[in-house]
Amino acid sequence: MSALVRPHGADALKPLLLEGAARDEELARARSLPRLRVSSRERGDLLMMGIGGFTPLDGFMTHADWQGVCDGMRMTSGLFWPIPITLSADEASAGSLPTGREIALVDPDDDSILATMRVTEKYGIDKAHECAMVFRTTDPAHPGVRMVMEQPPVNLAGPVKVLSQGGFPEKYGDLYMTPEQTRRLFRSRGWSRVAAFQTRNPMHRSHEYLAKVAIEVCDGVLVHSLLGALKPGDIPADVRTRAIGALAKHYFVPSTIVQAGYPLDMRYAGPREALLHALFRQNYGCSHLIVGRDHAGVGSYYGPFDAHRIFDEIPGDALQTQPLRIDVSFWCYRCGGMASGRTCPHGDAERLQVSGTQLRRWLSAGQPVPAEFSRPEVLDVLREYYGGLASRPAGIAAGAG
Ligand code: ADX
Repeated sequence: MSALVRPHGADALKPLLLEGAARDEELARARSLPRLRVSSRERGDLLMMGIGGFTPLDGFMTHADWQGVCDGMRMTSGLFWPIPITLSADEASAGSLPTGREIALVDPDDDSILATMRVTEKYGIDKAHECAMVFRTTDPAHPGVRMVMEQPPVNLAGPVKVLSQGGFPEKYGDLYMTPEQTRRLFRSRGWSRVAAFQTRNPMHRSHEYLAKVAIEVCDGVLVHSLLGALKPGDIPADVRTRAIGALAKHYFVPSTIVQAGYPLDMRYAGPREALLHALFRQNYGCSHLIVGRDHAGVGSYYGPFDAHRIFDEIPGDALQTQPLRIDVSFWCYRCGGMASGRTCPHGDAERLQVSGTQLRRWLSAGQPVPAEFSRPEVLDVLREYYGGLASRPAGIAAGAG
């Protein structure tokens, strides 16, 4: 029987989460340490380090690693890494912390302790340079650029001990699986070729098509939803995962699919984020990542297939997890079925393509959505959500995500 892909840059997963008595002791110690409130994005990165999703990182990156990752996607150790994983602090907090000091990192929402960290370095960065390299733009209208430009000015590096799972296991139950757990499940099913389907949406028929193409050529698919924050107006994770659950229940062979989620926020870095998506899916045990049209993109900052191409631009040994590149997919009335840019010879007039804005409008107004675009069971979940929004006072909908 062939084996699962190895974790990234390591023989074994490296979860930084302490458990049991070790966690209790560290938590007690942490209560007397100076506190730093992290951002939502940084919390996601910490939780990911905790469960081993960012193996083999041992904490937040140094200046030399930041530079190497921005410029050449390599850390000083030579490890391939496509996006900086950094922690920021304001001048006042950073100034009061001598290097070598331990601090407690606390949750931005409720100030609970997430982790401890030994500060090994404090440094400033050229934010515009990070944005130009990672996002390919410095336009402040890009949500990822805005996030970097608005973060406090000093970066703190150092190893972390993670003490929390941020409430995700309680909120999502069996859907919140660690890399160790997905690997165990894949092994128990005898899988070695596993495709990850990255998503921040409920799954419509084009997504279903992509996942099923992957199932044809792999042992199974991991439908892996982002559970952290998105941009305002996007659909919250609990609604998305319920819609995906309904699709999986009614339209997939159970032995070919695993549905799970991970705790990161979306960065919208397009091609570079596609590489990060492949990297951490390697840690979850996936040999392939489905990469469709405008993967992890936003607006029109990236070409529809830039995220396909970037996998050809990295060294062959950078990642074990390989892209499963799929062209734009849609329902074609002339073909009478789902098809893609590679398989359908017909023109736009024959193809059903629905924008997110159009779909939101239909659902908010209670209007019908073509069955060729989305399954009725998925639409039922979305209608319930949009119906609830319509009956709430204005303004609440904007916080979705
Ligand atoms: S995201 O992380 O890439 O932003 P999203 O949920 O929008 O998540 O898309 C999930 C995956 O499906 C990505 O690989 C994306 O490229 C792909 N995808 C979405 N819609 C289509 C489509 N109509 N045709 C081809 N690929 C698509």
